[in-house]
Amino acid sequence: MRSHKLLFSLVMVLMVIFGAVVVSAQEGGGAGLTIGFSQVGSESAWRTSFTQAVQAEAEARGINLLFSDGQQRQENQIAALRSFIAQGVDAIILAPVVETGWDEVLQEAADNQIPVVIVDRNVTADESLYITRVSSDFVHEGRLAAAWLVQATAGQCDIVELQGTVGSSAALDRQQGFNEVIALFPNMQIVQSQSGDFTRTNGKEVMESFLNAVDPSTICAVWSHNDDMLIGAIEAMKEAGIDPGQDILTISVDAIPDIFQAMVDGDANATVELSPNMGGPAFDAIVSYLAGEELPRWIPVAGGIYFPDTAAEELAARSGS
Ligand code: AHR
Repeated sequence: MRSHKLLFSLVMVLMVIFGAVVVSAQEGGGAGLTIGFSQVGSESAWRTSFTQAVQAEAEARGINLLFSDGQQRQENQIAALRSFIAQGVDAIILAPVVETGWDEVLQEAADNQIPVVIVDRNVTADESLYITRVSSDFVHEGRLAAAWLVQATAGQCDIVELQGTVGSSAALDRQQGFNEVIALFPNMQIVQSQSGDFTRTNGKEVMESFLNAVDPSTICAVWSHNDDMLIGAIEAMKEAGIDPGQDILTISVDAIPDIFQAMVDGDANATVELSPNMGGPAFDAIVSYLAGEELPRWIPVAGGIYFPDTAAEELAARSGS
């Protein structure tokens, strides 16, 4: 009888262990790791989805995620990284607000043998200071946006540009890609350009200043480095008696639910998608690195371009309604 009980207990223990292994394999790995995640902030709806996606992925994998919101300030992010290092985390995920100024703190992580994955925006620091970068191709996003505008306007368009955060690779690279394409068309030019820091409030304010600076009837399109600034600009245009999407064309980046709503309402014309699902590939990279595997320098995240014809469908799918 006693030996039966013992055997039963042993089988139960083995089942629990086996079950845990199967569950952890299904969930993508990383269970038990402590990972620090320094996020830019919560400046846009895209950023909030990205944060939520990373947190959900960590929870599903059994990863202990230490989260820090940098409130769009590099000094806050550097302080967060130093705190993660002091706590002896297994790895760090850094979504940097700007490109430059990371060398010293990344060197501190390296000195403490803590691997760092860069997600989303890029850094100019030496590549040896981080194990890989998970991101989209911002230059390509800019080219895609410009290519659409070229064909929508037959290559003739005076454009106002809402730039993202000054010094961020998302703004610099999108601008570069867009400008490369329009440079091929002599009748396409940027007539006004200013940063709206990727926020709705600033997007609205900057658009108001554009509408005061030039005759609005000469503006053919708004090129916005993200959807949130464009949502603000749409408000500004409506308040000025302009019909956005008709009188002034719009093109932006992110593909958030609100931009699909704006397309359904006839206020927006196109958006280039930036996937918020970078947590899975970042955690996979950390797990592989800790297992001694070699990583590519860049793990790309793909996205498409969307128009009003599929906006209702996309809105339903992306808002989970
Ligand atoms: O770095 C990516 C950009 O940051 C997104 O396009 C924007 O919405 C966010 O603030």
